[in-house]
Amino acid sequence: MATYLITGANRGIGTEYGRQLKDRGDTVIAACRRSSPELDALGVRIESGVDITSAAAIAGLVERLEGLPIDVLIHNAGLLEATCLETLDVESLRRQFEVNAIGPLLLSRALLGQLAPGAKLILMTSRMGSIADNSSGGSYGYRMSKVALCMAGKSLAIDLQPRGISVALLHPGLVRTRMTGFAAQAVAPEQAVRGLLDRIDALSLETSGRFWHANGQELPW
Ligand SMILES: NC(=O)c1ccc[n+]([C@@H]2O[C@H](COP(=O)([O-])OP(=O)(O)OC[C@H]3O[C@@H](n4cnc5c(N)ncnc54)[C@H](OP(=O)(O)O)[C@@H]3O)[C@@H](O)[C@H]2O)c1
Repeated sequence: MATYLITGANRGIGTEYGRQLKDRGDTVIAACRRSSPELDALGVRIESGVDITSAAAIAGLVERLEGLPIDVLIHNAGLLEATCLETLDVESLRRQFEVNAIGPLLLSRALLGQLAPGAKLILMTSRMGSIADNSSGGSYGYRMSKVALCMAGKSLAIDLQPRGISVALLHPGLVRTRMTGFAAQAVAPEQAVRGLLDRIDALSLETSGRFWHANGQELPW
């Protein structure tokens, strides 16, 4: 039994992480801006008011956790907004960097004191943040911010290796959530999270700092 803290836990992949972890007997702390009926129904500890772009909200969460050791910190919260070349919205670019790259780094640092040797940091990135895999262009804000997240994860893996903390960059696949407009061809969150938890369970200091698809395939930067 381990303690998992999940951001963006009120819907989509985040809620499904909470459900499967609770079902297998782990302790879940579900952080979110505002809870949902689906999250309420899980019967896990909910920490609302956690906007990961707010330093005050991060500090408030750390205070409420009162030093509780966290075994696995899953940075799941993310934001996808359409940003094409013709209509580049600079505020949207900034927003996506704040949520997808800067927030996870700041929250990781804020919770470092609660991560013991053996703890794991999970960064939910995307194959859209793979430069090698980019064959369709566009999505500037999302792609650029997820690349930045991948780089943060690589540095975290190096910096935290001496402390015995491992880091994984995970892509869930194309998943049927609000982010993808519940796309019919996407996989169900249940299936994606089963694969993601396999990757998290298998993560070790030896495999730290790498980029994986939920299906076990290693992805190129
Ligand atoms: N679905 C896919 O196919 C797919 C593919 C690749 C990667 N991913 C990644 O997987 C993760 C989960 O995606 P999803 O599909 O479950 O997306 P989703 O259904 O759109 O959920 C996004 C979650 O992030 C939260 N969030 C957004 N901005 C936030 C902020 N400032 N502070 C705190 N929480 C914030 C949302 O909270 P609110 O309800 O408060 O907005 C929501 O809980 C994301 O990092 C996403 O980039 C998803």
